Amino acid sequence: MALTIGVDVGGTKIAAGVVDEDGEILARTRVPTPADPQWAVDAIAQAVRELKDQYPDVVAAGIGAPGFVDRDRSTVIFAPNIDWEDEPLRGRVEELTGLPAVIENDANCAAWAEYRFGAGSGHSDMVLITVGTGIGGGLVLDGRLHRGRFGVAGEIGHLNMVPDGLPCGCGGRGCWEQYGSGRALRRYGREHAAEDQVRGRRMLELNDGVAETIRGIHITQAAEEGDPLALDCYAELADWLGRGMADLAALFDPGVFVLGGGVSDSGRLLLDPVAKAFEHYLTGGVHRPRAEVVLASTGSAAGIAGAADLARTL
Ligand code: BGC
Ligand code: NA
Ligand code: ZN
Repeated sequence: MALTIGVDVGGTKIAAGVVDEDGEILARTRVPTPADPQWAVDAIAQAVRELKDQYPDVVAAGIGAPGFVDRDRSTVIFAPNIDWEDEPLRGRVEELTGLPAVIENDANCAAWAEYRFGAGSGHSDMVLITVGTGIGGGLVLDGRLHRGRFGVAGEIGHLNMVPDGLPCGCGGRGCWEQYGSGRALRRYGREHAAEDQVRGRRMLELNDGVAETIRGIHITQAAEEGDPLALDCYAELADWLGRGMADLAALFDPGVFVLGGGVSDSGRLLLDPVAKAFEHYLTGGVHRPRAEVVLASTGSAAGIAGAADLARTL
């Protein structure tokens, strides 16, 4: 059985694994993402080499990168949240590891894993949304990963949601990921706790009384305890997500939306209000069949398993 390596390049860490044809991860490694993008390439190569030493018969490597990847699956054209521009990642990784490689968008990798091995299996049409630092998207249409003419289809995090809205890492304003991501959730927590210290008491308590540095884990813990303000933060996030999903349903008519990314670890706390908001905003909602909304089932392994599987189709 041919083994491949999958790498998930995130804003904070690079996670890699050796994966078999069933999407099973046999070995893993992870390193922090270096600040300098050139060092990131070396760190990726090092993770691949480390795994290749353990499993010398691996045949290829797939790299999931958090940005716009070209149609040839070689170059990261642009990455809004990491400092890469026209980065010839495929060539660099092949050179440094001696393995054939493919580069794919991180959310596309996660989508592929969920379609092949996870919550999207059995669905010919699926939209995966990663809710993390930004918002990533992966489209499986008619059983195929949809890349678009230039390879950058599914860049849903940069849908224009708010005219002249908040500035985004992409250089634009008002992008969906400024309102519906983990970073946005954090901002809601900070703003609301600062505005209303009485309702914000629990979240403030969890961060030694400081509103400006409240983090996602504080909001999530408070929400899990039933704290009304923390639940409001989740509701605000969910409202934006549901709105965008209604638009995506109008465009792609998927059978299922799969929610992944770090924030989806909070489970029903995210899922329930998002499903409700989606239902609320869906145009023609009561007159049409409605897509299911589910959580990703391969969890933090999705990026690795998807990248590795896509590397089989060199
Ligand atoms: C990038 C996408 C990426 C997503 C999640 C967005 O800002 O434009 O390419 O998939 O973040 O990492
Ligand atoms: Na994508
Ligand atoms: Zn943007």
